Amino acid sequence: MRLLVTGAAGFIGSHFVRHWVAAHPDDTVVALDALTYAGTETNLADVRDRITFVHADIADAEPVLREHRPDVVVNFAAESHNSLAILDPARFFRTNVLGTQGLLEAARRAEVQRFHHISTCEVYGDLALDADQAFTEDSPYRPRTPYNASKAGADHAVRAYHETFGLPVTITNCANNYGSHQFPEKVLPLFTTHALDGKPLPVYTSKHNRREWIHALDHVRAIEAVLDRGAVGETYHVGTGIEASVEDIANLVLDELGLPASLKHEVPDRPGHDRRYLLDSSKIRRELGWEPLVDFESGIRDTIRWYAANRVWWEPLRDRSPIAEGAWK
Ligand SMILES: NC(=O)c1ccc[n+]([C@@H]2O[C@H](COP(=O)([O-])OP(=O)(O)OC[C@H]3O[C@@H](n4cnc5c(N)ncnc54)[C@H](O)[C@@H]3O)[C@@H](O)[C@H]2O)c1
Repeated sequence: MRLLVTGAAGFIGSHFVRHWVAAHPDDTVVALDALTYAGTETNLADVRDRITFVHADIADAEPVLREHRPDVVVNFAAESHNSLAILDPARFFRTNVLGTQGLLEAARRAEVQRFHHISTCEVYGDLALDADQAFTEDSPYRPRTPYNASKAGADHAVRAYHETFGLPVTITNCANNYGSHQFPEKVLPLFTTHALDGKPLPVYTSKHNRREWIHALDHVRAIEAVLDRGAVGETYHVGTGIEASVEDIANLVLDELGLPASLKHEVPDRPGHDRRYLLDSSKIRRELGWEPLVDFESGIRDTIRWYAANRVWWEPLRDRSPIAEGAWK
């Protein structure tokens, strides 16, 4: 099989490529990425001789599809940082909505056998902290931030290409990912890299806001299950049911690194900061037999240790981030 993986030099995309190359040695993988500040080819260094890397924007990918004729497109490419979306929403709508539409059009013309789109739990809006409810695949979309709205727009475009043009699509909406190679602006690597430098951990005032956590490898295996045996036109939720607050994550980082609680420093919330997301992921478990394999606490602790051991990876990236937390004030 020939795969085109977009956003392949980012956090989850690179986990997917590394996993796919190891698990499917006979497949051909073309890894496409625009190499924004969040993408780095070093994430693909381990598999460089097994893939073809193309430096391109998903909005202009048609020549790439014409040349490489993929059977399957897996679309990870996105602007992904909620905080940056407050300062520069336009780039989110440009890539996440118009870029995805450009890629859908290229996939339609290339007559791909599957277009798999990576989406998020955040398209549904948020839940009250005490809500006795989880989002299902049928829940209404109620995005509350520019990032979430742009991801929601992308999902609508993907479904429209299926209904209108018959493009064989699938979508996964996934919970909050953690793991190695996550850009150091996101909460776990942000806290870990600050702690490793002895700097305060910027914990939002709403420190009890919760996220559902999943290891990137479990997410990748869920996408693999959908590509293998998911039904065309369907959406699958990917979650663990394991929730932890922003403060829980800060506490785990400090505990793993043997540092004092006094390093926690309260900062104002990001505007539109969602309280909580929780996915009902019973459909993918029941229909495709997928389940998460990585234990939450040991997965988080392994990840913290990875950042501690890989300063050479994150130090040069940190300076590329276009935004510092709180810059919207
Ligand atoms: N990280 C999470 O917790 C999470 C959860 C659910 C869904 N997702 C989704 O998973 C996908 C990957 O997220 P991530 O955390 O790996 O993000 P990331 O920011 O680490 O990676 C995104 C990659 O896309 C590339 N990119 C950006 N704009 C592009 C464009 N116009 N054309 C081509 N490439 C472009 C970037 O260079 C980067 O390599 C995104 O679609 C995101 O919305 C992420």
